[in-house]
Amino acid sequence: MPILNWLNKEQALTTARDCPYRLVELVPELSYGESDTDNMLIQGDNLDALKALIPTHSGKVKCIFIDPPYNTKSAFEHYDDNLEHSKWLSMIYPRLELLHQLLSEDGSIWITLDDSESHYLKVMCDEIFGRKNFVANSVWQKKYTIANDAKWLSDSHDHLLIYAKNKEEWRPYPLERTEAMNNRYKNPDNHPKGVWKSTPLYAKRKGSEKEAAFSYTFKNGYIWTPPAGTSPRFPESTLKKMDENDEIWFGVKSDAAPSRKTFLSELKSSGTPSSTIWLHSDAGHNHEAREEVKVFDKEDAFTTPKPERLIKRVLDLATKPNDLILDSFLGSGTTAAVAMKMNRKFIGIELGDHAVTHCQPRLKKVVDGEQGGISEDVNWTGGSGFKFYRLGEVIFNENGSLREGISFDALASHIWYGDTRQSLQQSTKSPLLGVHNGIDPCRQIRTIKLGKFNYAA
Ligand SMILES: C[S@@+](CC[C@H](N)C(=O)[O-])C[C@H]1O[C@@H](n2cnc3c(N)ncnc32)[C@H](O)[C@@H]1O
Repeated sequence: MPILNWLNKEQALTTARDCPYRLVELVPELSYGESDTDNMLIQGDNLDALKALIPTHSGKVKCIFIDPPYNTKSAFEHYDDNLEHSKWLSMIYPRLELLHQLLSEDGSIWITLDDSESHYLKVMCDEIFGRKNFVANSVWQKKYTIANDAKWLSDSHDHLLIYAKNKEEWRPYPLERTEAMNNRYKNPDNHPKGVWKSTPLYAKRKGSEKEAAFSYTFKNGYIWTPPAGTSPRFPESTLKKMDENDEIWFGVKSDAAPSRKTFLSELKSSGTPSSTIWLHSDAGHNHEAREEVKVFDKEDAFTTPKPERLIKRVLDLATKPNDLILDSFLGSGTTAAVAMKMNRKFIGIELGDHAVTHCQPRLKKVVDGEQGGISEDVNWTGGSGFKFYRLGEVIFNENGSLREGISFDALASHIWYGDTRQSLQQSTKSPLLGVHNGIDPCRQIRTIKLGKFNYAA
């Protein structure tokens, strides 16, 4: 498979592996809400933070949404977005590798970017997630106005790259049908099955010429044949049944070509698949997002937030209540806020000071029942909580020996992950952590106690 190459790619290939394991340390005074919550807000570089999560959260994240710096060559108020092209690629590569490990077998990752880097990222993601796991490149209409001063084309959309961990296993959940969709169904003939929409009796031809020769005579005498290049969608027996039940429409004057009455009440699912085009009317836009965050901090509003409606659509398609969501470029905290409002669990990671000045206060207000964004839509009245963490010491020193003061739980997770490549399911105080494929990790704990342990990740 052709792969992307860039200056210093060899180093990028080993960055994630060479990054040392650190502990994440709880900051109780910045944590808020229910004390038994699993929600995590982590301040720090996401390379370190993701690596720290590997032993405890590998294969556990149902949905990853990231909105990394797009490399637009701008200096935003709260972060820089100006890396040399190769450096940007080297920045994102190891983070994607770690995100891939954290994703569950039935999980998916959603990445927003613009034209600056998205096409390079597609090729990189094919390498990391597997080309066969590429789901779609959705287009989100982030702006609804035309920039009259545009030098070339007025940029109105972002890309949303979607990969599944395992595309054959993964399916998106249907979206709720909107009122506008349902309003297209009418009942001009007062049919007892209720409102309906007329749909063709034919489909694009896949089969043989023989199918093209099909013809059917309806009870009113109309002799129907599928138009050139199409095939009938229904066999003769179904057409007969529909005709008898008055489910064929010949137009208001009963003289038009026949079509099928498709009844709203008979649609297989009450939902609808998502299109790859996400209009601002359905998924929000940048201006709306700015208005949402201004409510939290008018003087110093975060400059590049995403609208809550965009994240809601991702979570509607990719998750159910209680699923774990991860955003490792958290910005102003939108993903975490929406996850809480939709009763999902979250891990949010943000490098900048705005983890404390913007994310934390926003999430605190959400716990208290904040009513902006999607709150009304999802009947959010408050609850939940989060724990705030910062990155702590590395677990093993440069010789590979255990540092002093590492807790049993942290050590147990690392030993278990080191041997099984899976996260430890439950905390235990027994030196026998469990048995996996005949391996007894307690043997290593005993060795550590003798001071001979050398950890190789
Ligand atoms: C485009 S913003 C994300 C905006 C977010 N989606 C929102 O709705 O507010 C990108 C964020 O990634 C953060 N970031 C950049 N590099 C990072 C790193 N190495 N670790 C963690 N966060 C990082 C920046 O500080 C910035 O807040």
